[in-house]
Amino acid sequence: MSATERYDQIGTDYASVRRPDARWVARIHQALDGHRTIVNIGAGAGSYEPGFMSVVGVEPSQIMISQRSSSAAPVVCGVAEQLPFQDGAFDVALAVFTVHHWSDPGVGLAEMRRVSHKQVVVTWDPDVFARQFWLVRDYLPEAVARERQLATLATVLAHLGPTTTEMLLVPDDCTDGFFGAYWKRPQAYLEATVRGAISGLALLDRGVVSAAMERLKVDIGQGRWHARYSDLMELCELDLGYRLVVAEH
Ligand SMILES: C[S@@+](CC[C@H](N)C(=O)[O-])C[C@H]1O[C@@H](n2cnc3c(N)ncnc32)[C@H](O)[C@@H]1O
Repeated sequence: MSATERYDQIGTDYASVRRPDARWVARIHQALDGHRTIVNIGAGAGSYEPGFMSVVGVEPSQIMISQRSSSAAPVVCGVAEQLPFQDGAFDVALAVFTVHHWSDPGVGLAEMRRVSHKQVVVTWDPDVFARQFWLVRDYLPEAVARERQLATLATVLAHLGPTTTEMLLVPDDCTDGFFGAYWKRPQAYLEATVRGAISGLALLDRGVVSAAMERLKVDIGQGRWHARYSDLMELCELDLGYRLVVAEH
């Protein structure tokens, strides 16, 4: 299945579950400060696009494009690996939670460098994720195995040259329903709509996910989850490995 077909299939409820989180908006927009033009690659429904810049989106899935609001920036139907723009056409190229879906991440990241002077990428460190996130560590090691095969932080760093990398902590009430968003709200993972908007769960073997969710449901119901992870209840944000990578050339 191509990435486009994948998002045409799993992306149907994306905009309602994956609402940009204001704290991450602030962090990402800080990296865009002082620039005028931006291309948002793997733009999806338009999350994290800045209202203060001239924006063009690039997105292959019509289902995702159809969820962009009427006021969203114009979008070109296309892929990262073949950007229909001239060299240096934009001040910034942005890619949020998308590089791991590209069929050739190396080519896509080289395209980002070709069309822009600054690249801003949100991705994650799978080692931190596997170590810190109770859901994959204790219930779904199969998700870790899958994530380790994806193009994540190491790939981005290898292809973007010198970068700065900052931690993106996950607030306990995060509104963008990505994989780690509900670390303090375990019941959320029991909902099919929530899981459907998380590719790391939606693309795993259904039987494996169902069995893990059944174990989680029982543990929550019997108070075992809260007893085991009581230390998390003290925290209001957590490092699950999400990273903001910025490169300038
Ligand atoms: C998890 S969504 C992220 C969407 C948006 N950036 C966000 O933060 O909400 C991943 C997006 O990458 C898109 N995508 C998949 N393969 C792609 C490719 N080769 N080039 C560009 N975008 C791609 C998918 O269609 C999907 O919209």
